[in-house]
Amino acid sequence: MATPHIAAAPGDFAPAVLMPGDPRRAQRIAEILMADARMITDVRGMLGFTGTVNGKPLSVMGSGMGQPSFTIYATELFSQFGVERIIRVGTIGAISPKVEVGDVVVATGAHTDSSMNQLRIPGINFSAVADFHLAQAAYEASLTPQAGVDGTVHLGTVISRDHFYFTPQGQTEALAAYGVLGVEMEAAALYGVAAEYGKQALAVLTVSDHLLDHSGDMSAAERETRFADSLRLAVAAAHS
Ligand code: HPA
Repeated sequence: MATPHIAAAPGDFAPAVLMPGDPRRAQRIAEILMADARMITDVRGMLGFTGTVNGKPLSVMGSGMGQPSFTIYATELFSQFGVERIIRVGTIGAISPKVEVGDVVVATGAHTDSSMNQLRIPGINFSAVADFHLAQAAYEASLTPQAGVDGTVHLGTVISRDHFYFTPQGQTEALAAYGVLGVEMEAAALYGVAAEYGKQALAVLTVSDHLLDHSGDMSAAERETRFADSLRLAVAAAHS
């Protein structure tokens, strides 16, 4: 079976899929986590892999950037490939003063300036929320010393914006005042698609920069090691 954007066979995907934005990162994650990873799709270079981690099946596939791209892949995975759980793994720009570069944000809910969820149920401001069970599993994994998480793990809301380079004046400060932890570009759409199909979703995000305080931005090497923290929590949620 193939969909317009995924050329995989029935049963190629595990029930749980980790989704970074970058398909090359999907390949690196597969290589790091799995001894038996095999590529199952590469349409448009959006690489997907399946293997096992700790003896349990897991898939990892790129999502591309932004809510439309994520929605295409999440919809096809949930509706055509038997996927039950999608966990976004990616980066987030912090806006809360409580959050530092290198920390992990588990997005329990996602505000958005996108129209994608607004169009779902006419007249309704849809609440894009994570699956509680997955969020709890990620959080509990962060409490175990074996998880080896160096930074602080924050649970709370994020803003999933459509623009990367344009922001209405004062909006970031206003969101921070409402306790929003950071800015990314996909979680709200993922949570909307999961609700549409009655599936489970979570975003576990590494803080790569701080939009209101640039003092601690990460080096490339640091990005890789700190990214491992969120990966461990994502795998724990995937297999919970
Ligand atoms: N904006 C959107 N997405 C991001 C950012 C940002 O500043 N930083 C990391 N992901």
